[in-house]
Amino acid sequence: MGVRRHKTYADLRSARWYGAKDLRAFGHRSRTKQMGFSRQDWEGKPVIAIVNTWSEMNPCHAHLRTRAEEVKRGVWQAGGFPVEMPAMSLGEPFMKPTTMLYRNLLAMETEELLRANPIDGAVLLGGCDKTVPGLLMGAISMNIPAIFVPAGPMLRGNWNGVTLGSGSDVWKYWADLRAGAITEDDWQGIEDGIARSFGTCMTMGTASSMAILTETLGLSLSGAASVPAADSNHPRLASASGRRIVEMVWEDLKPRDILSADSFDNAIVALNAIGGSTNAVVHLVAMAGRAGIALLLSRFDALSRRTPFIVNLRPSGQYLMEDFHYAGGSRALLAQLKDHLRLDARTVMGGTLGEAVAGARVVNEDVIRSTAKPLRSEGGMAILKGSLAPDGAVIKLTAAEPRLLKHHGPAVVFEDYNDMAARIDDENLAVTPDSVLVLKNAGPKGGPGMPEWGQLPLPKKLLRQGVRDMVRISDGRMSGTSYGACVLHVAPESAVGGPLALVSDGDLIELDADARRLDLLVSPEELERRRRAWKPRPAPYARGFGEMFLAHVTQADKGCDFDFLEGAAPTPEPEIH
Ligand code: FES
Repeated sequence: MGVRRHKTYADLRSARWYGAKDLRAFGHRSRTKQMGFSRQDWEGKPVIAIVNTWSEMNPCHAHLRTRAEEVKRGVWQAGGFPVEMPAMSLGEPFMKPTTMLYRNLLAMETEELLRANPIDGAVLLGGCDKTVPGLLMGAISMNIPAIFVPAGPMLRGNWNGVTLGSGSDVWKYWADLRAGAITEDDWQGIEDGIARSFGTCMTMGTASSMAILTETLGLSLSGAASVPAADSNHPRLASASGRRIVEMVWEDLKPRDILSADSFDNAIVALNAIGGSTNAVVHLVAMAGRAGIALLLSRFDALSRRTPFIVNLRPSGQYLMEDFHYAGGSRALLAQLKDHLRLDARTVMGGTLGEAVAGARVVNEDVIRSTAKPLRSEGGMAILKGSLAPDGAVIKLTAAEPRLLKHHGPAVVFEDYNDMAARIDDENLAVTPDSVLVLKNAGPKGGPGMPEWGQLPLPKKLLRQGVRDMVRISDGRMSGTSYGACVLHVAPESAVGGPLALVSDGDLIELDADARRLDLLVSPEELERRRRAWKPRPAPYARGFGEMFLAHVTQADKGCDFDFLEGAAPTPEPEIH
């Protein structure tokens, strides 16, 4: 498709910095020359920011320094002027208390980096969980042409010939170690073999889910989501994205031209079809909010009910992202789902989603099933409501033991993570396989930052009896690589006095996933008595970013954005003087 020029050089943001005959423009030009560039490098060309979340505290992004060079190659080829701009890297394995505390900070940084500098278009380099929504939320709010390059999944893990998947097999073998089913030597072998290359977690965790949803939303090149990080197709994808962003600047194709209610519906369909991460629910709601689109949890449930689950990847299935890519990858998946998608939604390619996936085909139907022979006729996600979650909660149906999806049992309550860690393995804990484990103070304000504590560990004494799943309920999140009958994102959260705060040991809780219900079977009079006695905990922060986070973060059903960042109201361009 040829470039449809809607802009001239004089229209570009960067022309305001470089093009004038005044003292300020002299400064901008002379300081660009200070870096060894000549006028020929930038004159008449769009300035393209490569927003790079590379960091040595983020192993998933270890290759992004070289990828930035490969993006630059494409930008130069297409007649742009590339500039690399580092942004905060949210390395999931290391950051405490949780990367989610900082997603909105990366979003703010991305937006303001692009606004304050002479940038005409942006290539966003990220992939590790929260870096995807963080970069995209900022780019959507800034609303200049932007394209996302996912870091790509790492290679399959290997231990003595056994294939290992990020996260999922950690939880599995950790439970086996605790139950005495494997040795410390085995555990060491797993440590050596589970992360064999750079790239993101290669199960269908948050990173893989968000990469696929980003492509489905139309914000990265077609086929980008599944290319393995260590595959030579990945640097070629980076260069192609560099070439395409220059065209997008001339075409004036911006994120909010691409995003629509239909494109978010498409993303929710894809999320259910892949059995994707529950984290994506929070991120999609927040991203839609930045585009001025109100995305309700009820939409997730409505689309889940009519979307077949067709991707056979761990933690809900068998395979890993490499297998998914070789089976046809994200393009084949979307082609397979064409009867469920709004194919007229737009993409960064300049055309429609239908055009982007035309001709793609599945080459391994055990990995990507046909919609006629799905793994499950409904989607992987359910939104629950009821007296315990008036504003909603999320459960990943495909990751739970089916018998637990309709369950009735007494609560075993932990007031916070430390309480849980101190008592969960106590041999005297009054817990049976039918108990419902409840964790409070794991939500956006309570965590703080809504950590991934929602897959509560099972009590050791039950593990030894062979128990491998129980109903667990919290206002926290769960890693996309985790599994189990875990009810997550309960809203309102306990730290603000939601009903979860009022649960006591022994209270009966009823989960009915099919009816989409989560209820606390305690009389209204008793709950009212407990509500009057309830007191909020002291705030953990009195200053700094943490204080701002607590003051402005919204609840899980609203996407956990900051209230002052929501919406698409215009923000003035900086004056240049
Ligand atoms: Fe980075 Fe999983 S830890 S993607």
